[in-house]
Amino acid sequence: MKIYVIGCRYGDGEPTDNAARFYKWFTEKEGGEWLQKLKYGVFGLGNRQYEHFNKIAKVVDEILANQGAKRLVPVGLGDDDQCIEDDFSAWRELVWPELDNLLRDDDDPTTVSTPYTAAISEYRVVFYDNADASVGEKSWGNANGHAVYDAQHPCRSNVAVRKELHTPSSDRSCTHLEFDIAGTGLTYETGDHVGVYCENLSETVEEALSLLGLSPDTYFSLHTDKEDGTPLGKSTLPPTFPPCSLRTALTKYADLLSSPKKSALLALAAHASDPTEADRLRHLASPAGKDEYAQWIVASQRSLLEVMSEFPSAKPPLGVFFAAIVPRLQPRYYSISSSPRVAPSRIHVTCALVYEKTPTGRVHKGLCSTWMKNSLPMEKSNDCSWAPIFVRQSNFKLPADAKVPIIMIGPGTGLAPFRGFLQERFALQEAGAELGPSLLFFGCRNRKMDYIYEDELNNFVQSGALSQLIVAFSREGPTKEYVQHKMMEKSSDIWNMLSEGAYLYVCGDAKSMARDVHRTLHTIVQEQGSLDSSKAESMVKNLQMTGRYLRDVW
Ligand code: 2AM
Repeated sequence: MKIYVIGCRYGDGEPTDNAARFYKWFTEKEGGEWLQKLKYGVFGLGNRQYEHFNKIAKVVDEILANQGAKRLVPVGLGDDDQCIEDDFSAWRELVWPELDNLLRDDDDPTTVSTPYTAAISEYRVVFYDNADASVGEKSWGNANGHAVYDAQHPCRSNVAVRKELHTPSSDRSCTHLEFDIAGTGLTYETGDHVGVYCENLSETVEEALSLLGLSPDTYFSLHTDKEDGTPLGKSTLPPTFPPCSLRTALTKYADLLSSPKKSALLALAAHASDPTEADRLRHLASPAGKDEYAQWIVASQRSLLEVMSEFPSAKPPLGVFFAAIVPRLQPRYYSISSSPRVAPSRIHVTCALVYEKTPTGRVHKGLCSTWMKNSLPMEKSNDCSWAPIFVRQSNFKLPADAKVPIIMIGPGTGLAPFRGFLQERFALQEAGAELGPSLLFFGCRNRKMDYIYEDELNNFVQSGALSQLIVAFSREGPTKEYVQHKMMEKSSDIWNMLSEGAYLYVCGDAKSMARDVHRTLHTIVQEQGSLDSSKAESMVKNLQMTGRYLRDVW
């Protein structure tokens, strides 16, 4: 019996990084005898807001069934837009009886099904004198020297340049940042993503310290085994981190601002000295409290710290806090906005500031965007800001032949990878290559506020790296003008370019922009090709399948 739990990356329905190799092998493999014997269940981790909701899980489930494996339970479609834990619990309830049937020894009437009761996981914690733990303070993300950089082995890189891209009249902010990678061995290709680890703000860390009621100078390490070296138990624990102070742990490794999972509420309840608080926490995590959890926590975007402040008697020990309550702080990914042909020793990032009020009145400051906006560049100080970073490869790449026409659609910070593309085309042209025609659709609110990289884009047009720049300003006239409206105006150019083998690229917001652009593309193909809707659909699908319609969306 196999149980597959499979995630789907935002937007384009690609597998997550850690499932990519499995998925490639799985979809390319031949059927086999082993599949006839396999009994399986698949649960997908997705979000209904996205077009390719749980695509990978559905594909895996279908292939297994088609190749003769026995599906024990219907594919579970977890929806992160609601409560993915509830979806999983409901699916798990279907799995237990099947497992029970499978594992029951027919001759043994005493074998009974065991209902799942989630034990609260906990690390073994070792406390140190300050001096002993200084090693950990200097390790992860602080030193370079790995042969290969990845999410587990990031590269320390300094901020070389930081610039505000919006004008002062804009009420929003967008940062242009350059990481210095000279001499580190870190390399990238145009169209790749950079993963950036950032830190919690000190005000967030102070709040967590006071809620935990522990000293910031508590030095400790986390262990997944008992003192005698045997494993602690069967539960899977999140990755540990090097010995450090509690302040460092909360700053670098703790995701304090996401909403707590139900399992975290149960762990808090187990350590709440006030029984009323413990009961309410358990209620919120129970099936009876489902609606309240959905409203009070998910819809209100209540952070873990906000929830903890409502239950002040809950003081979990560190081993429980880091194992069962606070998730690890994850890296943030950005589409790289430079090309190594122009900037071999720099990785450029174009990052819009996230700053919004949540329903509870809390001001949510995006962790990484705030850090970037406030970072101190090398050009301003020797004691500049730095971050652990790594490069994630993508398949969002220019055609191998520069003569192939390209159409790029990227409003707002969706422009980022296209700036890299245009740098690349500029460098190719300088080196004597012949370039095919190119169109760029960019969109922003107002030419005087958020028309980012305006001069550079005009220079690309002048040099011939870009054939046509088409800009939609959404808040200048009486009606909204979006990139898809401009695409409709250029229908016949787009159709002619596609007929000549053009590649079409979309980058930016997946939930509305990329969906609307997709519909517009469908309309253009249908109208210009005089096709019926299903023929247009299959032509667009074909563009996707052949890698000529690529999306980098989030
Ligand atoms: P708006 O903020 O005026 O609605 C970059 O963010 C640009 O994308 C802005 O001009 C924004 O316009 C626009 N935008 C918002 N929703 C969009 C959509 N569904 N399709 C295309 N552009 C959109």
